[in-house]
Amino acid sequence: MRDGVPWWNRSSSVVRVGAGLRPGLAPSLPEAYCAAGRLSSRARRASPRSLRQNASSTGPRPASAANPPFPWRAIMKVVDIDASTPAPALREIGEEALRADGAIVFRGSLGFHEYLGITNAFCTDFLPYLGGSNHGRELVDEDAQIMTAPGGVNNHAIAMHGEMYYQLIRPDLLFFQCHTPARRDGETLLADGCRVFSEMGGALREGLAERRVAYHRRRDERVWSRLYRTSDREVLRSYCAQMSVDARFDDDGCLWTRFTDAASHRSRGGAPAFINNVLTFGLQALRCEGQPFSWVTYDDGEAIPPELLLEAERLVAACTTPIRWQRGDVLVVDNTRMLHGRNAFDDPARRILLRMGMARV
Ligand SMILES: [Fe+2]
Repeated sequence: MRDGVPWWNRSSSVVRVGAGLRPGLAPSLPEAYCAAGRLSSRARRASPRSLRQNASSTGPRPASAANPPFPWRAIMKVVDIDASTPAPALREIGEEALRADGAIVFRGSLGFHEYLGITNAFCTDFLPYLGGSNHGRELVDEDAQIMTAPGGVNNHAIAMHGEMYYQLIRPDLLFFQCHTPARRDGETLLADGCRVFSEMGGALREGLAERRVAYHRRRDERVWSRLYRTSDREVLRSYCAQMSVDARFDDDGCLWTRFTDAASHRSRGGAPAFINNVLTFGLQALRCEGQPFSWVTYDDGEAIPPELLLEAERLVAACTTPIRWQRGDVLVVDNTRMLHGRNAFDDPARRILLRMGMARV
């Protein structure tokens, strides 16, 4: 504890943990979230003390037949914690695991409060989700910083990608929490972009990983006004300019965006990583019927050979590990290194939360 304040009650620059959210023993979203995506007045009056009592009376769950360890424990650390775990210890454990593996799972009957506490232990600044693909995301908090992963009817597989590599500013760390796992399938997928880069053959590395690419999108007005949460073109232009995204409107009000970037980047640890949005944009365009709404080229506009995209997809798949969620799990991912994606599922109840943070400097 720092100054007698447990980690789950530390305040961040944006979200007032403990003062604004309902305590809960099991993973619980603010009640109004289910109805309207807003925090309730009752939630705002909740006492952090009562959370502590609830959470600490539960304690971490030992591994058992009903609570088996992750099958990928050997390559990624799973740490049991409870609400009394001090923030510095949490951060130390987490940063060590992130350096070693690029991701870590915190486990132990963790509720929404604990989830927020973990995010605040690592980060003080968080990014809103603007301009990306919506696909049924729901906002959980008023600051548009916590959202659900795509779900509902959008239960398709998601290709491996780094988060928001289609713009200049992207999160360093991703924080997922499993509110409700799918009955089956729907695993979140992780692949180490440093390993992918190191295992690339010459043709793939020179033809793709070491090239600059351009991400293109085309969206009609109904879609872009929802994704950027504004119908004001100047507001949108200003945001895109901050993100180094070229934006223009055609006569039909359709928004066309273009962002150029390297296909590989230095990770937080300094090693080169194949991390980008090449596969999400490239495979979508390759496999869709009709005109795609997003696609990727080299930065000079030349087409990327499909065989390179498919070879990259195969290599990434060979490096991919599925995460089989347990309710309450909090997964922290280094977004400067780890590609993530998802298997398809058929369960409308699946609910995974996401918050995106900027690492402390
Ligand atoms: Fe993502």
